[in-house]
Parts: sequence; C-alpha cells; structure tokens
Amino acid sequence: MIKGTTKIIGIFGYPVEHTKSPAMHNAAFEHLGLDYCYVPFSVKPEGLKAAVDGIRAFGLAGVNITVPHKETVLPFLDKLSEEASFIGAVNTVKNENGILTGYNTDGIGFMRSLEEKGVQAKGKKVLILGAGGAARAVGYALCKESFECHIYNRTVEKGIALCGHLAKAGGKVRMADNDSINDKVFLSEMDILINTTSVGLAESDAPLLKTSLLAPGQIVCDLIYKQTSFLKEASKAGCVTMNGLGMLLWQGAAAFEIWTAAKAPVEIMRKALEKNLLG
Ligand code: ATR
Repeated sequence: MIKGTTKIIGIFGYPVEHTKSPAMHNAAFEHLGLDYCYVPFSVKPEGLKAAVDGIRAFGLAGVNITVPHKETVLPFLDKLSEEASFIGAVNTVKNENGILTGYNTDGIGFMRSLEEKGVQAKGKKVLILGAGGAARAVGYALCKESFECHIYNRTVEKGIALCGHLAKAGGKVRMADNDSINDKVFLSEMDILINTTSVGLAESDAPLLKTSLLAPGQIVCDLIYKQTSFLKEASKAGCVTMNGLGMLLWQGAAAFEIWTAAKAPVEIMRKALEKNLLG
C-alpha cells in the first residue's frame, strides 16, 4: 500500500526489465511491515547524472545500481565505503539528507553465499576466471578473508592489473595462464573455482577450462544465475556447485540492511526471488 509517507528505493540499470530485485525487496518490506517501496528505473548512460541528482530531488531513500552504471556512477556520489572505493564500483547508494554514499555489497554477498555451503575461509586456494568488475568485488572479499587467489583472464594485462590491485588488499594473489587452467595438478590444488565472466550466458558457450580435470570435493561457482555448462559439467565430475543466485540474494540482504537498519528477512527474500525466476 503506497501512502504519502512511503519511502522509495529504486534500481538504476539499462536495460533494467530483467531485474529480480523489486520482487525480493518488496516481499521483505511487506513481511516486516516497513513503509518502503522498491521500483525499477530505466536509466540510459547519458541520463545517469540527472538520475543521481533525482535521488536528491525526489528524496529517494536509496538505490541499487546495476549494469552498465556500477563504475560510471562514482563521480556523482558524495562518499564511498571502503569496499566501493577499493573495488571502484558501487551497487548500493544510501541517501541521508541529500548526502549520497556508495557501497558495494557484491563481495559480501558472494562470501555469505559461500558460507551457506559451509566453506571455511582460511588457507583456501581459489581460481577466479575473469578480471572485470565482478572479479574485483569477489576477489577483494576473498583477499580480505585470507584466501589465496589465482586470477585467469583472457586479456592478460587486465589480469595482471587486477593481481597488483588485489595484493594491496593484503591478499596472496597470482596470475594463472592458459596452460595452468588446463593443467590437472594446478587445478587439483584449487579448493574453489569461480567463473565471473559472461561465458556461459549462451547455452552454446563451452566452459573456459577442461571440466574433465575437476575432482569431487571441489567447489565450483558461477556468478551467472542459471546452471551454466560449467556448473553442469562440474556437477557431473562430483564437485559441489553454486550459481549466482545466492550472491544476488545476499548482496540484496546487505543492501536492505544499509537502507533500513532492519535485519533482512533472508528466507522471505529467497522465496520471492525463486518464485520470480520461475514466473
Ligand atoms: P563484469 O562487471 O560483469 O565483471 P566486465 O567488467 O565487462 O563485466 O568483465 C567481463 C569479464 O569477462 C572480463 O574478464 C572478460 O575478459 P577480457 O578482460 O579479456 O575482456 C571476460 N570475458 C567476456 N567474454 C569472454 C570470452 N568470450 N572469453 C573469455 N573471457 C571473457
């Protein structure tokens, strides 16, 4: 029920039509009886500055920021959290009396979805495929928790740059090349393998590495929401697999807590997300 007092949270993206976040957050607001409403805004890149000014003008309580604005939004905000500043990307904005603070809850979202699988951090070796914004967020969170990260990227220079950057977070970070990601000994040493690239979005996409070299007990993650060929093949090899839905849920829970200061009703949000995906 929208009232004169209802606080508005939005999501800025382009395209934004596919977003699952309104279903997840509105279910949570309703469950807790909070006077908030979450709505999508289709914001073209050339309209981003005006849209951010609109957060102040309309007095929105906050927004999520999604593709393609996560990095380009930074100059328009007043303050950044430590994570957002290090990662160089924002997925959550809170408006406090016209002062806009940018946060990044993607990394914490990934860590919480890993915790759900019962993974303990210390000393774990991780192979991250990709070196884009998602890899930066996940890599930063892993490095902060003392994981040992190996980065593979198609464009080697970008991979090297990410290694150097993550090392500043205190992490043990190394580059992995084409040979290593198809080497049985190297792969067998990895406790967790994470695809952060867009490879797998199309049904016809082959996984970036030889999944026949994976072994039972390894944890294989894909940040894509569906069961990609990487996950399907890893599952056949006996690995524990995790798609991107857990990260979507837990980044949303963390954002919800930033906006409302209430504890996120995670199971309600999970159900809403699953129902929305089926529908
Ligand atoms: P995001 O913010 O989702 O991480 P991004 O910053 O555009 O998106 O990064 C996309 C990542 O997927 C990059 O690591 C990219 O590799 P390059 O740096 O070489 O471009 C990777 N990627 C995309 N398509 C790929 C493909 N066909 N094969 C291998 N890597 C690919």
